[in-house]
Amino acid sequence: MSLVLDPAAQDLLFREARTANTFTDEPVTDEQMQAIYDLVKYGPTAFNQSPLRITLVRSPEARERLVQHMAEGNRPKTAAAPLVAILSADNEFHDELPQLFPHFPQAKDAFFSERPAREGAALLNSALQAAYFIVGVRAAGLAAGPMTGLDFEGVRKEFLDDDHTPLMVVNIGRPGPDAWFPRSPRLTYEQVVTTV
Ligand SMILES: Cc1cc2nc3c(=O)[nH]c(=O)nc-3n(C[C@H](O)[C@H](O)[C@H](O)COP(=O)(O)O)c2cc1C
Repeated sequence: MSLVLDPAAQDLLFREARTANTFTDEPVTDEQMQAIYDLVKYGPTAFNQSPLRITLVRSPEARERLVQHMAEGNRPKTAAAPLVAILSADNEFHDELPQLFPHFPQAKDAFFSERPAREGAALLNSALQAAYFIVGVRAAGLAAGPMTGLDFEGVRKEFLDDDHTPLMVVNIGRPGPDAWFPRSPRLTYEQVVTTV
C-alpha cells in the first residue's frame, strides 16, 4: 500500500529478480543496451558527475581475453553469457563536469583538481550507477550477474587505461536452467534501520 510502483514492476525489479548464474543463448541486442542506458542515466550522482563507463564485451576474441582474468568459479558463466559488460569508474570525469553541471561550472576546479579527490568521488558515484545499471538490466526483462571475483589490474590493463578503475563485470542475458542458488535471507528493517 505504501509503494506507488506497480506490484508487477516491483517483482520484476526486486522481489523476483535474481542474480543469474546460467543463461540461454538468446542474444542481448545493442538496442536493449541503449534502452537500459537511456533509462538508468537519470539515476542521481554527486554534481551529476556520472563517472560510470561501460565496456560491452561482444566479440569472441575479447570474451576470451576477459575470461582469463576472471576467478576460476566465474569463468564458465562469463564465457557463456550472451553479453558481458565491464563497469568502470572514469577518474577523469571532471572533464565533462561543465557540460553535466552547467549551472556551477566552477565545480570542476573547485572540487576536483586533485586526482585523489576525483578517485574517491568516482568510486562512490560509479558504484551507485552500477546499481542503477543492474536494476535497468532487470527493467529490460533480463537477468544480471554482477561479479567482483576477478583480477582487477589484469582487466584494467587488458581493456582500460590508467584513468579508469574497473568496478565489476556483469553477465547479462535471459536466465538458463538452474540459473540461481536458493534465495539468501536479507536483513530485516529492524536490523538495518535506526531512527534518531
Ligand atoms: C558487486 C557484486 C559482486 C559479486 N561478485 C560475485 C562473484 O564474483 N561471483 C559470483 O558468483 N557472484 C557474485 N555476486 C553475486 C551475489 O552473490 C548475489 O548477487 C547475491 O548473493 C544476491 O543473489 P540474488 O540476487 O540471487 O538474491 C556479486 C554480486 C555483486 C552485487
